[in-house]
Amino acid sequence: MQKASVPDTCDAADIDSAVAALRAGELVAFPTETVYGLGADARNEQALLKIFELKGRPADHPLILHIASLNELTEWVAEVPQSAKMLASHFWPGPLTLVLPRHPRVSKVLTGGQDSIAVRIPAHSVAQALLRALGSGLAAPSANRYGHVSPTSMQHVKEEFGDAVQVLSGGDCDVGVESTIVSLLDETPRILRPGMITMADIAAVLGEPVQARSPVDTVPRVPGSTLQHYAPQTPVSVLPAEVLSSAIEVANAAGECVAVLARHAPAAQGVLACADTPAFVLRWVQAPADAAGFAHDLYARLRELDKLGAQRILVERVPEEPEWDAVRDRLQRASAGH
Ligand code: TXA
Ligand code: MG
Repeated sequence: MQKASVPDTCDAADIDSAVAALRAGELVAFPTETVYGLGADARNEQALLKIFELKGRPADHPLILHIASLNELTEWVAEVPQSAKMLASHFWPGPLTLVLPRHPRVSKVLTGGQDSIAVRIPAHSVAQALLRALGSGLAAPSANRYGHVSPTSMQHVKEEFGDAVQVLSGGDCDVGVESTIVSLLDETPRILRPGMITMADIAAVLGEPVQARSPVDTVPRVPGSTLQHYAPQTPVSVLPAEVLSSAIEVANAAGECVAVLARHAPAAQGVLACADTPAFVLRWVQAPADAAGFAHDLYARLRELDKLGAQRILVERVPEEPEWDAVRDRLQRASAGH
């Protein structure tokens, strides 16, 4: 069967209408290489307020500013330290966000009342085209309702907001999890949110140690750090591989149906129907074995499994290596409180 056709990438007319909407103070969702963003003209306070309203996001949770090129940085940032220049020239455009002192002209609505601003240059060609055509910065959080799983396709954004905002298409996001956030406000650079650019990658470019995120110091500065962020509706449990089968048995014995996300295949292949409630199936999704592949698929898989009506989603624990930091962090949050 032919799938409904969704163009992989939007055209010039779509960009024009998006720019017109943004200039009129409307919101536009657009693809980035990490996740889809919900964008507003960063100079328009009324438009910025709409982001908080539509997402249901608390006003003190700051947004990320997206710009097209490094030349624009000084319009938004009061002071660009050498470390920012080094990281920018190495990782931008790309999935890295820098937290720097805010330029006094920047609206505190954008920064959640703070004197710092989080900024990045996205690599996605549609994001770049949009920013260049707009000729200004775009404030954009992930295009999901507050606390939900972030969207990595145009379809996901539609699931979140229906027709409430225009969505530019740009295919599935390459990276699949949100950017790494590094604060350069203090002497020692500090990771505020792990992403696929790792702490070691950053330390290597700077030639100095980088401080890991402390588990308690970032709430509520980084809403992604409050527990139960990125969470599906279905309770999620993260378990070591060796206890997966017994956890499934225990759940089924209790009359619960589970869906599984694991890096290995199930012992018995296929989709198993639960005996008592045939409408509820146990689905086993085999995720990519490498960190980049797993991250790329993660949110789409969680959304897919969330729709099954299972009582629980069981996820096989991922490795401890640093390249898995971002995935481990998002899984921990998806399972918090369950
Ligand atoms: O990959 C990404 O970063 C995506 C795409 C759309 O660019 N955006 C994203 O936005 O993940 P959001 O709003 O879901 O997460 C923004 C993060 C939050 O954790 C927020 O607290 C943090 O950036 N942030 C923004 N400004 C900050 C600041 N001044 N100090 C500390 N954290 C800040
Ligand atoms: Mg988000």
